Amino acid sequence: MSEPALIQVPFLEEAARLMAERTSGRTPVALVRTYGCQQNVADGELIKGLLDEMGFSFTEDPEQADLILLNTCAVREHAEDRVFGNLGALKNVKRRHPGLLIGVCGCMSEQAQVAEKIRKSFPFVDIVFGTRAIHHLPEMMVSALNESRRVFYSGQGDQAFVEGLPVHRDSSFRAWVPVMTGCDNFCSYCIVPYVRGREKSREPEDILRDCRELIQAGYKEITLLGQSVNSYGKGLDRPINFSELLRRIDALDGDYRLRFMTSHPKDATEELFSTMANARHIPHCIHLPFQSGNDRVLREMNRRYDRQQYLNLIHLARSLMPDIHFTSDVIVGFPGETYAEFQDTLSLIREVNFTNLFTFIYSPREGTVAAKMEDPVSHAEKTRWFAELLKVQEAIAADRGQSMVGETLRVLVEEQDPKTGLLSGRTAGGLVALFPGETQWVGQFTWVQVTEARGLQLLAKQVRS
Ligand code: SAH
Ligand code: SF4
Ligand code: F3S
Repeated sequence: MSEPALIQVPFLEEAARLMAERTSGRTPVALVRTYGCQQNVADGELIKGLLDEMGFSFTEDPEQADLILLNTCAVREHAEDRVFGNLGALKNVKRRHPGLLIGVCGCMSEQAQVAEKIRKSFPFVDIVFGTRAIHHLPEMMVSALNESRRVFYSGQGDQAFVEGLPVHRDSSFRAWVPVMTGCDNFCSYCIVPYVRGREKSREPEDILRDCRELIQAGYKEITLLGQSVNSYGKGLDRPINFSELLRRIDALDGDYRLRFMTSHPKDATEELFSTMANARHIPHCIHLPFQSGNDRVLREMNRRYDRQQYLNLIHLARSLMPDIHFTSDVIVGFPGETYAEFQDTLSLIREVNFTNLFTFIYSPREGTVAAKMEDPVSHAEKTRWFAELLKVQEAIAADRGQSMVGETLRVLVEEQDPKTGLLSGRTAGGLVALFPGETQWVGQFTWVQVTEARGLQLLAKQVRS
């Protein structure tokens, strides 16, 4: 297969030249700090891909940087607060290094009130751009460097996904492949449809080309990304659904795992589960957020399924894949949720027996429907419910871990702890196993036997390579 044609990104060379001028010929250094979900991580890899082309090297140390970009997340208030905190700290760095360029991008920048706040309260920020304007980065840098003016660019009119941009992959064995961007679901609490725009799917040929090249380059894990990944295919000229896409990728030969996230229950079908069950490369695990176990709350959330439909999906998937692992997201304290309704969430958690849960206390997001709903329960009360939920899940996770002692599992070795020297490997079901081994196993598959479980963390020993 030929290399994909990289597109000509306008202003790339000029931005490189101006940057080199600014650093008097020294290699310019960038710090790209990414917050939020894997979509943002994948965007961060595109940003770094462009910076690579401009001749940058990378650092984690703000004091070393000539360019700092904060790639932000807007999903909860806490995420935004962290960014504003970190941004405030950069003021002094800029005072010490006046030549430093500072940019804010990602989901927060797509919100008008955030752009306004940066305009007024953070005058040392040079560039602000949204999730659909990444390919305009060189152009924005040229304006900031050449004309010394601040650049605000939301890029909302732009095409959602630009093919052919260079990618700087953070890992040499695990890769993110976005298959769609945006979200059309408008769950009433969620900011994502506002900051990421409408759903847009990539052409299957582009996705297959990426996957083929990754496998040929020795990548061992490919994760397909989309906010509602299983509604992939809508709006493409030639009809294709997500299951079909999975089957076409799975047909590629090689020793790799094919994962995907995040699936919306309303688009999870029997075809999807049977595709998983019959695939050669897809692990039997799925992230399937349920958010709440109560029908009234689910309706108010605009999730478009009810408790029974969700449970039916779980039973269907288990009937086809008895060894399947489920993980999920759940929100505690949605506006108007009562303690009795919250108990339905707990009972659903017990009934499904999730391997892992990502748990959040509801956070109002300006501009969403839920932000206007009455929210009488205090934060302190919600925090108590949250603690109750964690306890339930911890007990389930501990049982799950115990039940795996003695099992022999294939893991992908992800890293080595520099302190203990232990390797950590990821099982097909997404759990972490720690075991002694050699540094050069990182990035390879190996077989381990679980000897002990501490909660969800499995202690293991290698049994064969
Ligand atoms: N598209 C994915 C994930 C979106 S954001 C999905 O539909 O599942 C990840 C998680 O953050 C959501 O699943 C939800 O549990 C949580 N979340 C989103 N908005 C939130 C809010 N306003 N307050 C608290 N949690 C929220
Ligand atoms: Fe947000 Fe719902 Fe879209 Fe997920 S599906 S990104 S929770 S609106
Ligand atoms: Fe956050 Fe944007 Fe992802 S809001 S969760 S980084 S899509």
